[in-house]
Amino acid sequence: MSKKTLTTTAGAPISDNQNSITAGPRGPLLLQDYQLIEKLAHQNRERIPERVVHAKGWGAFGKLKITGDISKYTSAKVLQPGAETDMLARFSTVAGEQGAADAERDVRGFALKFYTEEGNWDLVGNNTPVFFVRDPYKFPDFIHTQKRHPKTNLRSPTAMWDFWSLSPESLHQVTILMSDRGLPTAPMHMNGYGSHTYSLWNEKGERVWVKFHFKTEQGHAHFTNEEAKQVVGESRETYQEALFGSIEAGHYPRWKMQVQIMTEEQAAKFEHNPFDLTKVWPHGDFPPIDLGVMELNRNAENYFAEIEQAAFSPSNVVPGIGFSPDKMLQARIFSYADAHRYRLGTHYEALPVNQPKNGVHHYHKDGQMNFFGQKTGHVDAYYEPNSIDESAKEAPEYKEPALPIEGDADRYNHRDGNDDFSQPRALFELFDADQKQRLFSNIADAMDGVPQHIIDRQLALFDQIHPDYGNGVRAALKG
Ligand code: NDP
Ligand code: HEM
Repeated sequence: MSKKTLTTTAGAPISDNQNSITAGPRGPLLLQDYQLIEKLAHQNRERIPERVVHAKGWGAFGKLKITGDISKYTSAKVLQPGAETDMLARFSTVAGEQGAADAERDVRGFALKFYTEEGNWDLVGNNTPVFFVRDPYKFPDFIHTQKRHPKTNLRSPTAMWDFWSLSPESLHQVTILMSDRGLPTAPMHMNGYGSHTYSLWNEKGERVWVKFHFKTEQGHAHFTNEEAKQVVGESRETYQEALFGSIEAGHYPRWKMQVQIMTEEQAAKFEHNPFDLTKVWPHGDFPPIDLGVMELNRNAENYFAEIEQAAFSPSNVVPGIGFSPDKMLQARIFSYADAHRYRLGTHYEALPVNQPKNGVHHYHKDGQMNFFGQKTGHVDAYYEPNSIDESAKEAPEYKEPALPIEGDADRYNHRDGNDDFSQPRALFELFDADQKQRLFSNIADAMDGVPQHIIDRQLALFDQIHPDYGNGVRAALKG
């Protein structure tokens, strides 16, 4: 028998949770039944805005263990040899709403939060190393093409291919999306990529550029479009079932963490802009270095509190890890914390799942739902500078090395002199004949109902990657 007495949110015991208060057995209800009113009012507030993108997600907790040694490049404690750090991962699709089916062709989000002793480090990546656009000015337009048409309220392949065919920088990502890796069977069977170029810096004030990769140890596994239709017909929740079920059963998925390093001298000589998110750094020139292992081994106790309320932001970096001039990354530094303030509220970082484990000190004050009091170290210290010894002070030893910047402020055409074809070509040439065939037919499927002039514009782009690419899609469209 439970000894726990049911109460109102104000702690008063509830004597009857089955029957509301009425005047006589047939009603009407009395307004004084505040227990009923509290219940209905809470229900009305159960939903918060879903993420504007990446709304459907699956997450779990785990650990990152560092086994390699890149200490000469970075002072970040989380990346030192032997370091073990608790973490949270959330995987997602991009376009679907919260109730969308899991087994849909889409890029997958691969968001990681590391609770380091120097603050939270969030690596908010995808299962692909590149992206559809390279200027954040185009991100909202691109997302509009992925979401519903304002009149039909349906997804619009016409909008997608219209935008892509006018944006050749999307070719690399579109090729990956339409390849086998565009529809993994479960979160455990895909890689994760930090995608952007970030920086590492050390105590001597030296900086290198870095890309982060997480390689699945479960092996890659994909659905064909036909298989996915069957799967979705049987269950819309296959990713949740697979990830949650695997961890409950004690089969903990693991990923090998790798980094690619580029020096500032190499960056100056690199054939592409090293900060262009539509490009990878070829492994041959920048070999991946094994750095550690990430394992997911604990499911959330409460999905809403720990996964839905999780707030990942590329702005969360720690000393020894920094940003880069990548325009997309720069915009994301603004966008995510702004989204969290809207979606979760001003003090979202104080929610248990987001709270840094090292403790925080800051001078932000008051605000809606402030449940924690001053974090400055002393009650009189609600401003800074002050002369109160116990209060929190800045720490110059964490200063990041200066980054030289030059150039005239202007709106530079990001397509000028940019090669959008050679890297998708390198990928296309990696595919065997069957993979190519599936690529062609996936694209043909996705073009269903798209006007011919848009298809022709896109085919001309595929031709520039490789004549076999354009012709393969043409044949699949006829077939
Ligand atoms: P490599 O041959 O050294 O690397 C090829 C990479 O392609 C591997 O990382 C492999 O992943 C990945 N790959 C295989 N199939 C697919 C697919 N369907 N979708 C996406 N990636 C896939 O060559 P390069 O480094 O010179 O790169 C050649 C091309 O490979 C690039 O233009 C890019 O399109 C793609 N690529 C490159 C990456 C990089 O960081 N250099 C990362 C991912 C893709 P895995 O290791 O898991 O087998
Ligand atoms: C989610 C904006 C590009 C990966 C989001 C959210 C916003 C956003 C507002 C919702 C955040 C929330 O409510 O918690 C942008 C903008 C971009 C951009 C403005 C470009 C300028 C990218 C890129 C990647 C990426 C390039 C990957 C490399 C993700 C992931 C999530 C996400 C994984 C879900 C995070 C989670 O699981 O909570 N994005 N995004 N985004 N984005 Fe982006």
